Amino acid sequence: MPPNTPIFVSLLFLIFPFFIQQSNAYMELRPDFYDESCPRLPMIIRYHIWAAVQNDSRMAASLLRLNFHDCIVDGCEASVLLDDTRDMKGEKNAPGNVKSLRGFEVIDGIKADLETYCPQTVSCADIVNLAAREAVYLVGGPFWHLPLGRRDGLTASLKSVLAQLPSPKASLENNTAKFISKGLDLKDLVVLSGAHTIGFARCVTFKARLFNYKGSGNPDPDINTAMLSDLRSMCPNRNDGTGANLAPLDVASYDRFDNEYFTNLIGNVGLLESDQGLMADPQTARMVREYSFDPNLFYEDFSESMMRMSLVGVMTGREGQIRKQCGVVNNDDGY
Ligand code: HEM
Ligand SMILES: *[C@@H]1O[C@H](CO)[C@@H](O)[C@H](O)[C@H]1NC(C)=O
Ligand SMILES: *[C@@H]1O[C@H](CO)[C@@H](O)[C@H](O)[C@H]1NC(C)=O
Repeated sequence: MPPNTPIFVSLLFLIFPFFIQQSNAYMELRPDFYDESCPRLPMIIRYHIWAAVQNDSRMAASLLRLNFHDCIVDGCEASVLLDDTRDMKGEKNAPGNVKSLRGFEVIDGIKADLETYCPQTVSCADIVNLAAREAVYLVGGPFWHLPLGRRDGLTASLKSVLAQLPSPKASLENNTAKFISKGLDLKDLVVLSGAHTIGFARCVTFKARLFNYKGSGNPDPDINTAMLSDLRSMCPNRNDGTGANLAPLDVASYDRFDNEYFTNLIGNVGLLESDQGLMADPQTARMVREYSFDPNLFYEDFSESMMRMSLVGVMTGREGQIRKQCGVVNNDDGY
């Protein structure tokens, strides 16, 4: 700049880069976002996730799923954590989430600690993403450098869940369309389904495959016969409490993050219709074989897709707020 540039022009040059940043929302996210404002954050997350999984090994899976359900419905803005209010039917009690999502108390525990050490600084949306990242790593999965700086949303919608959440009974085509509408793609769907290497599903989510597949009166022809009889004794054809019984999503190792989910699909022992369905399409079946063959490729692609998912519909800058409690919107100035 020449030395005699008028002061207002110099000012323009100073603030111009700021505008560029604002207009490109997710460019503002960065892994070191809280390094100065909350240096204890990594330690607090690590401790809480360790303690939660120590107490209940399924919690690693539950926190990973919570991250998916938050991001895929209206973006990663912690809307899934909001309790219903008199004027708002949110995501928590929507079909697919109610009596199914777990881990809210772990997120609340982390938030409570963070409010002591760095009040009103770390968003619930970032906590959900960090918790999942830490949980995956703790049970043997990959680690990725998660960009941070998300803000928390001000509302949640039951209707959004009905419209946007994939279903275990929907076709591959229909579930893929839901990923695509979020800027994700078929590869993200396949590799992220590898999350089903940990955790459990209730009988109600796959029972139709055992007794009455697509209204045929017969089981799904794509189930391994030994697995079929095991699952039938665990999930009898009755409408009683057994619908809530749990079967492991990965029969080989439900509490270890590995690539056996994909090997299972090749052996026809995938649990959900949407899991085994990945073998019915040549393009997805090829990816399944690749991930079964090469665990490192799975880890690399899983990390990449988790980062892509973590950027879906994020709020940054002055959007939204930093909640004080993850289950409720702040009712003050909304900082
Ligand atoms: C095509 C998309 C998907 C469908 C249809 C689907 C469906 C399901 C269903 C029905 C369950 C069992 C729920 C219950 O019993 O109440 C489940 C569990 C689970 N899902 Fe998915 N899922 C999908 C993608 C994903 C993705 C992308 C992730 C994470 C990145 C994920 C992570 C998990 C985990 C970890 C569990 C076990 C949770 C626990 O044990 O608490 N799923 N999924
Ligand atoms: C430990 O896990 C059980 C469920 O397995 C849960 O009811 C309990 O609240 C957990 N306790 C702590 C301290 O997290
Ligand atoms: C796929 O979506 C279409 C349009 O919403 C719907 O009519 C159809 O029943 C769905 N099919 C499956 C198998 O989910």
